[in-house]
Amino acid sequence: MPNIYVTREIPEGGLELLREKFGKFEMNTEDRVLTRDELLSKVKGRDGVLCLLTDNIDDTVFEAAGSQCKIFSNYAVGYNNINVPAATKRGVMITNTPGVLTDSTADLAIALLFACARRLNEADLFMRAGKFKGWGPMLFLGQDITGKTLGIIGAGRIGGNVALKMAKGFNMKVLYTDMSGNPELEKEIGAKRVDMPTLLKESDFISVHVSLNDNTRHLIGEKEFAMMKPNCVFINTSRGPVVDEAALVEALKAKKIFAAGLDVFEKEPMLTPGLAELPNVIIPPHIASATFWTRTRMAEMAAKNLIDALEGRMPEFCVNKDQLSK
Ligand code: GLV
Ligand code: GLV
Repeated sequence: MPNIYVTREIPEGGLELLREKFGKFEMNTEDRVLTRDELLSKVKGRDGVLCLLTDNIDDTVFEAAGSQCKIFSNYAVGYNNINVPAATKRGVMITNTPGVLTDSTADLAIALLFACARRLNEADLFMRAGKFKGWGPMLFLGQDITGKTLGIIGAGRIGGNVALKMAKGFNMKVLYTDMSGNPELEKEIGAKRVDMPTLLKESDFISVHVSLNDNTRHLIGEKEFAMMKPNCVFINTSRGPVVDEAALVEALKAKKIFAAGLDVFEKEPMLTPGLAELPNVIIPPHIASATFWTRTRMAEMAAKNLIDALEGRMPEFCVNKDQLSK
Protein backbone atom coordinates (compact mmCIF):
# COMPACT_ATOMS: atom_id res chain seq x y z
CA MET A 1 0.00 0.00 0.00
CA PRO A 2 1.47 3.41 -0.96
CA ASN A 3 2.55 5.57 1.96
CA ILE A 4 1.00 9.01 1.66
CA TYR A 5 0.83 12.16 3.73
CA VAL A 6 -1.59 15.11 3.76
CA THR A 7 -0.09 18.34 5.14
CA ARG A 8 -3.39 19.72 6.49
CA GLU A 9 -7.01 18.66 6.68
CA ILE A 10 -8.96 19.28 3.47
CA PRO A 11 -12.70 18.74 2.79
CA GLU A 12 -14.05 15.25 3.37
CA GLY A 13 -14.75 14.50 -0.32
CA GLY A 14 -11.02 14.27 -1.01
CA LEU A 15 -10.14 12.42 2.18
CA GLU A 16 -12.80 9.83 1.43
CA LEU A 17 -11.24 9.06 -1.96
CA LEU A 18 -7.84 8.65 -0.31
CA ARG A 19 -9.27 6.38 2.40
CA GLU A 20 -10.98 4.19 -0.20
CA LYS A 21 -7.68 3.67 -2.02
CA PHE A 22 -5.09 3.71 0.71
CA GLY A 23 -6.94 2.84 3.90
CA LYS A 24 -5.78 4.75 6.94
CA PHE A 25 -3.22 7.43 6.13
CA GLU A 26 -1.42 10.14 8.04
CA MET A 27 -2.51 13.76 7.96
CA ASN A 28 -1.74 16.93 9.90
CA THR A 29 -4.97 17.36 11.86
CA GLU A 30 -3.96 20.54 13.66
CA ASP A 31 -5.55 23.60 12.12
CA ARG A 32 -2.29 25.27 11.13
CA VAL A 33 0.57 25.18 8.63
CA LEU A 34 3.34 22.71 9.46
CA THR A 35 6.63 24.23 10.58
CA ARG A 36 9.59 23.72 8.27
CA ASP A 37 11.02 21.03 10.55
CA GLU A 38 7.70 19.22 10.80
CA LEU A 39 7.29 19.29 7.02
CA LEU A 40 10.79 17.90 6.45
CA SER A 41 10.26 15.10 8.92
CA LYS A 42 6.68 14.25 7.90
CA VAL A 43 7.42 13.83 4.17
CA LYS A 44 10.20 11.31 4.85
CA GLY A 45 9.65 7.99 3.11
CA ARG A 46 6.32 8.97 1.51
CA ASP A 47 5.33 7.81 -1.95
CA GLY A 48 3.12 10.84 -2.42
CA VAL A 49 2.21 14.02 -0.57
CA LEU A 50 -0.88 16.19 -0.77
CA CYS A 51 0.28 19.72 0.05
CA LEU A 52 -1.12 23.24 0.24
CA LEU A 53 -0.11 26.60 -1.20
CA THR A 54 1.13 27.57 2.27
CA ASP A 55 3.79 24.80 2.19
CA ASN A 56 7.13 25.80 0.73
CA ILE A 57 8.05 22.76 -1.35
CA ASP A 58 11.66 23.19 -2.46
CA ASP A 59 14.47 20.81 -3.30
CA THR A 60 15.26 20.20 0.38
CA VAL A 61 11.72 18.85 0.79
CA PHE A 62 12.11 16.49 -2.19
CA GLU A 63 15.46 15.37 -0.77
CA ALA A 64 13.84 14.76 2.62
CA ALA A 65 10.98 12.80 1.05
CA GLY A 66 13.37 10.41 -0.68
CA SER A 67 13.80 9.00 -4.17
CA GLN A 68 10.73 6.72 -3.93
CA CYS A 69 8.45 9.80 -3.83
CA LYS A 70 6.42 10.11 -7.03
CA ILE A 71 4.16 13.10 -6.55
CA PHE A 72 3.38 16.29 -4.67
CA SER A 73 -0.26 17.08 -5.32
CA ASN A 74 -0.91 20.78 -4.65
CA TYR A 75 -4.36 21.74 -3.34
CA ALA A 76 -4.48 24.97 -5.42
CA VAL A 77 -4.41 26.15 -9.00
CA GLY A 78 -1.32 28.29 -8.33
CA TYR A 79 1.90 26.36 -7.68
CA ASN A 80 4.44 29.11 -7.11
CA ASN A 81 5.04 27.52 -3.68
CA ILE A 82 6.73 24.57 -5.41
CA ASN A 83 10.11 24.43 -7.11
CA VAL A 84 8.89 22.64 -10.23
CA PRO A 85 12.26 22.40 -12.05
CA ALA A 86 13.73 20.74 -8.94
CA ALA A 87 10.81 18.29 -8.88
CA THR A 88 11.28 17.51 -12.56
CA LYS A 89 14.98 16.85 -12.05
CA ARG A 90 14.09 14.26 -9.42
CA GLY A 91 11.27 12.80 -11.50
CA VAL A 92 8.56 13.98 -9.11
CA MET A 93 5.17 14.86 -10.58
CA ILE A 94 3.58 18.16 -9.54
CA THR A 95 -0.16 18.56 -9.97
CA ASN A 96 -2.69 21.35 -9.38
CA THR A 97 -6.47 21.92 -9.35
CA PRO A 98 -7.42 24.26 -12.21
CA GLY A 99 -10.93 24.96 -13.49
CA VAL A 100 -13.06 24.17 -10.44
CA LEU A 101 -12.13 27.45 -8.77
CA THR A 102 -12.50 29.67 -11.82
CA ASP A 103 -16.06 30.85 -11.03
CA SER A 104 -15.53 31.23 -7.30
CA THR A 105 -12.30 33.20 -7.73
CA ALA A 106 -13.75 35.39 -10.46
CA ASP A 107 -16.86 35.97 -8.32
CA LEU A 108 -14.75 37.13 -5.38
CA ALA A 109 -12.78 39.51 -7.61
CA ILE A 110 -16.11 40.93 -8.74
CA ALA A 111 -17.42 41.15 -5.16
CA LEU A 112 -14.31 43.17 -4.25
CA LEU A 113 -14.78 45.36 -7.29
CA PHE A 114 -18.32 46.23 -6.24
CA ALA A 115 -17.51 46.59 -2.55
CA CYS A 116 -14.60 48.95 -3.29
CA ALA A 117 -16.49 51.02 -5.85
CA ARG A 118 -19.42 51.53 -3.48
CA ARG A 119 -17.35 51.66 -0.27
CA LEU A 120 -19.39 48.92 1.35
CA ASN A 121 -16.88 48.14 4.10
CA GLU A 122 -16.60 51.78 5.21
CA ALA A 123 -20.35 52.26 5.03
CA ASP A 124 -20.99 49.10 7.04
CA LEU A 125 -18.53 50.12 9.76
CA PHE A 126 -20.13 53.58 9.87
CA MET A 127 -23.53 52.04 10.46
CA ARG A 128 -22.29 49.64 13.16
CA ALA A 129 -20.58 52.55 14.93
CA GLY A 130 -23.99 54.21 15.29
CA LYS A 131 -22.99 57.17 13.10
CA PHE A 132 -25.97 57.05 10.73
CA LYS A 133 -28.14 60.12 11.28
CA GLY A 134 -30.32 59.65 8.20
CA TRP A 135 -29.97 59.78 4.42
CA GLY A 136 -27.46 62.34 3.18
CA PRO A 137 -26.82 63.74 -0.29
CA MET A 138 -23.06 63.48 0.20
CA LEU A 139 -22.96 60.25 2.19
CA PHE A 140 -20.50 57.64 0.84
CA LEU A 141 -20.26 58.69 -2.76
CA GLY A 142 -18.57 56.01 -4.85
CA GLN A 143 -17.80 55.01 -8.42
CA ASP A 144 -20.11 53.86 -11.19
CA ILE A 145 -19.50 50.40 -12.59
CA THR A 146 -21.96 49.88 -15.44
CA GLY A 147 -20.52 50.89 -18.79
CA LYS A 148 -17.07 51.72 -17.39
CA THR A 149 -13.74 50.32 -18.57
CA LEU A 150 -12.32 47.18 -16.98
CA GLY A 151 -8.64 46.34 -17.40
CA ILE A 152 -7.79 42.66 -17.00
CA ILE A 153 -4.13 41.83 -16.43
CA GLY A 154 -3.80 38.18 -17.42
CA ALA A 155 -6.83 36.99 -19.39
CA GLY A 156 -6.60 33.24 -18.71
CA ARG A 157 -9.40 31.16 -17.25
CA ILE A 158 -10.07 33.40 -14.26
CA GLY A 159 -9.34 36.79 -15.83
CA GLY A 160 -11.41 35.83 -18.87
CA ASN A 161 -14.30 34.75 -16.63
CA VAL A 162 -14.30 38.12 -14.79
CA ALA A 163 -14.24 39.92 -18.14
CA LEU A 164 -17.15 37.91 -19.54
CA LYS A 165 -19.35 38.41 -16.48
CA MET A 166 -18.68 42.13 -16.25
CA ALA A 167 -19.09 42.75 -19.99
CA LYS A 168 -22.31 40.74 -20.22
CA GLY A 169 -23.81 41.76 -16.90
CA PHE A 170 -22.64 45.35 -16.59
CA ASN A 171 -21.85 46.38 -20.12
CA MET A 172 -18.25 47.06 -19.24
CA LYS A 173 -15.70 47.73 -21.95
CA VAL A 174 -12.80 45.32 -21.50
CA LEU A 175 -9.12 45.97 -22.13
CA TYR A 176 -6.61 43.24 -21.37
CA THR A 177 -2.97 42.28 -21.34
CA ASP A 178 -1.96 38.66 -21.73
CA MET A 179 1.13 36.76 -22.77
CA SER A 180 -0.62 34.79 -25.44
CA GLY A 181 -3.81 36.69 -26.20
CA ASN A 182 -7.40 35.50 -25.83
CA PRO A 183 -9.11 35.59 -29.25
CA GLU A 184 -12.27 33.99 -27.82
CA LEU A 185 -12.70 36.88 -25.41
CA GLU A 186 -12.19 39.37 -28.24
CA LYS A 187 -14.82 37.61 -30.30
CA GLU A 188 -17.37 37.15 -27.54
CA ILE A 189 -17.31 40.58 -25.87
CA GLY A 190 -15.07 42.73 -28.08
CA ALA A 191 -12.28 42.76 -25.50
CA LYS A 192 -9.24 44.64 -26.74
CA ARG A 193 -5.67 43.48 -26.15
CA VAL A 194 -3.53 46.51 -25.34
CA ASP A 195 -0.09 47.23 -23.92
CA MET A 196 0.31 47.68 -20.18
CA PRO A 197 0.57 51.52 -20.16
CA THR A 198 -2.64 51.82 -22.20
CA LEU A 199 -4.48 49.48 -19.84
CA LEU A 200 -3.22 51.34 -16.77
CA LYS A 201 -4.12 54.77 -18.14
CA GLU A 202 -7.54 53.96 -19.57
CA SER A 203 -9.12 51.57 -17.07
CA ASP A 204 -11.57 52.57 -14.35
CA PHE A 205 -11.16 49.14 -12.75
CA ILE A 206 -8.08 46.92 -12.91
CA SER A 207 -8.10 43.27 -11.89
CA VAL A 208 -4.97 41.10 -11.79
CA HIS A 209 -5.12 37.41 -12.81
CA VAL A 210 -1.59 36.34 -13.69
CA SER A 211 0.29 33.48 -12.08
CA LEU A 212 3.32 34.37 -9.98
CA ASN A 213 6.72 33.78 -11.57
CA ASP A 214 9.96 35.68 -12.18
CA ASN A 215 8.28 37.70 -14.94
CA THR A 216 5.32 38.79 -12.84
CA ARG A 217 6.95 39.52 -9.46
CA HIS A 218 6.25 43.21 -8.71
CA LEU A 219 4.57 43.57 -12.09
CA ILE A 220 2.54 46.39 -10.51
CA GLY A 221 4.53 48.96 -8.54
CA GLU A 222 5.03 52.67 -8.06
CA LYS A 223 5.38 53.43 -11.77
CA GLU A 224 2.23 51.50 -12.64
CA PHE A 225 0.10 53.03 -9.86
CA ALA A 226 1.24 56.46 -11.01
CA MET A 227 -0.27 55.78 -14.45
CA MET A 228 -3.70 54.78 -13.10
CA LYS A 229 -6.67 57.16 -12.98
CA PRO A 230 -7.48 58.73 -9.61
CA ASN A 231 -10.89 57.03 -9.73
CA CYS A 232 -9.33 53.62 -10.41
CA VAL A 233 -10.28 50.62 -8.29
CA PHE A 234 -7.48 48.04 -8.15
CA ILE A 235 -8.21 44.36 -7.44
CA ASN A 236 -5.76 41.51 -6.85
CA THR A 237 -6.93 37.92 -6.31
CA SER A 238 -3.89 36.26 -7.93
CA ARG A 239 -0.76 36.19 -5.77
CA GLY A 240 0.50 38.92 -3.43
CA PRO A 241 4.06 39.34 -4.74
CA VAL A 242 2.72 40.36 -8.16
CA VAL A 243 2.07 43.71 -6.50
CA ASP A 244 4.60 45.91 -4.69
CA GLU A 245 2.45 46.25 -1.56
CA ALA A 246 4.42 49.15 -0.06
CA ALA A 247 3.96 51.07 -3.33
CA LEU A 248 0.24 50.30 -3.21
CA VAL A 249 -0.05 51.65 0.35
CA GLU A 250 1.69 54.84 -0.79
CA ALA A 251 -0.56 55.16 -3.85
CA LEU A 252 -3.68 54.77 -1.69
CA LYS A 253 -2.41 57.22 0.93
CA ALA A 254 -1.60 59.80 -1.75
CA LYS A 255 -5.04 59.18 -3.33
CA LYS A 256 -3.40 58.26 -6.65
CA ILE A 257 -6.13 55.62 -6.94
CA PHE A 258 -9.61 55.36 -5.39
CA ALA A 259 -9.51 52.02 -3.61
CA ALA A 260 -8.05 48.53 -3.60
CA GLY A 261 -9.49 45.08 -2.97
CA LEU A 262 -6.89 42.45 -2.12
CA ASP A 263 -7.41 38.77 -1.38
CA VAL A 264 -3.68 37.99 -1.50
CA PHE A 265 -0.69 39.64 0.15
CA GLU A 266 3.00 39.99 -0.52
CA LYS A 267 4.18 38.33 2.69
CA GLU A 268 1.13 36.32 3.68
CA PRO A 269 -0.12 36.21 6.38
CA MET A 270 1.67 39.50 7.20
CA LEU A 271 0.47 42.84 5.89
CA THR A 272 2.57 45.83 4.89
CA PRO A 273 2.41 48.32 7.77
CA GLY A 274 -0.28 50.89 7.13
CA LEU A 275 -2.36 48.75 4.77
CA ALA A 276 -4.97 47.66 7.31
CA GLU A 277 -5.37 51.22 8.61
CA LEU A 278 -6.47 52.60 5.25
CA PRO A 279 -10.23 53.12 4.91
CA ASN A 280 -10.26 52.50 1.16
CA VAL A 281 -8.98 48.93 1.11
CA ILE A 282 -10.89 45.70 1.50
CA ILE A 283 -8.70 42.81 2.55
CA PRO A 284 -10.27 39.37 2.92
CA PRO A 285 -7.83 36.62 4.04
CA HIS A 286 -7.11 34.72 0.78
CA ILE A 287 -10.59 33.22 0.41
CA ALA A 288 -11.28 33.49 -3.32
CA SER A 289 -11.75 29.75 -3.78
CA ALA A 290 -13.44 29.34 -0.38
CA THR A 291 -16.90 28.11 -1.31
CA PHE A 292 -18.30 24.80 -0.13
CA TRP A 293 -18.61 23.50 -3.69
CA THR A 294 -15.20 24.65 -4.93
CA ARG A 295 -13.20 23.46 -1.96
CA THR A 296 -14.82 20.03 -2.15
CA ARG A 297 -14.04 19.79 -5.88
CA MET A 298 -10.45 20.92 -5.22
CA ALA A 299 -10.08 18.22 -2.57
CA GLU A 300 -11.41 15.56 -4.95
CA MET A 301 -9.10 16.71 -7.75
CA ALA A 302 -6.03 16.84 -5.52
CA ALA A 303 -6.86 13.34 -4.23
CA LYS A 304 -7.46 12.01 -7.75
CA ASN A 305 -4.15 13.45 -8.97
CA LEU A 306 -2.38 11.69 -6.11
CA ILE A 307 -4.19 8.39 -6.71
CA ASP A 308 -3.49 8.46 -10.46
CA ALA A 309 0.21 9.03 -9.91
CA LEU A 310 0.48 6.26 -7.33
CA GLU A 311 -1.43 3.80 -9.49
CA GLY A 312 0.91 4.42 -12.42
CA ARG A 313 -1.22 6.77 -14.50
CA MET A 314 -0.21 10.27 -15.57
CA PRO A 315 -2.53 12.61 -13.62
CA GLU A 316 -4.63 14.84 -15.82
CA PHE A 317 -3.41 18.01 -14.13
CA CYS A 318 0.32 17.33 -13.98
CA VAL A 319 2.06 20.67 -14.56
CA ASN A 320 5.47 19.16 -15.41
CA LYS A 321 4.07 16.39 -17.64
CA ASP A 322 5.92 17.57 -20.75
CA GLN A 323 9.26 18.07 -19.00
CA LEU A 324 9.01 14.68 -17.27
CA SER A 325 8.41 12.81 -20.52
CA LYS A 326 11.55 14.29 -22.11
C1 GLV B 1 -5.56 29.68 -4.51
O1 GLV B 1 -5.01 30.73 -4.30
C2 GLV B 1 -5.15 28.77 -5.53
O2 GLV B 1 -4.13 29.00 -6.21
O3 GLV B 1 -5.83 27.75 -5.68
C1 GLV C 1 -4.94 31.25 -13.58
O1 GLV C 1 -4.61 30.57 -12.62
C2 GLV C 1 -6.10 31.00 -14.38
O2 GLV C 1 -6.66 29.91 -14.22
O3 GLV C 1 -6.48 31.90 -15.15
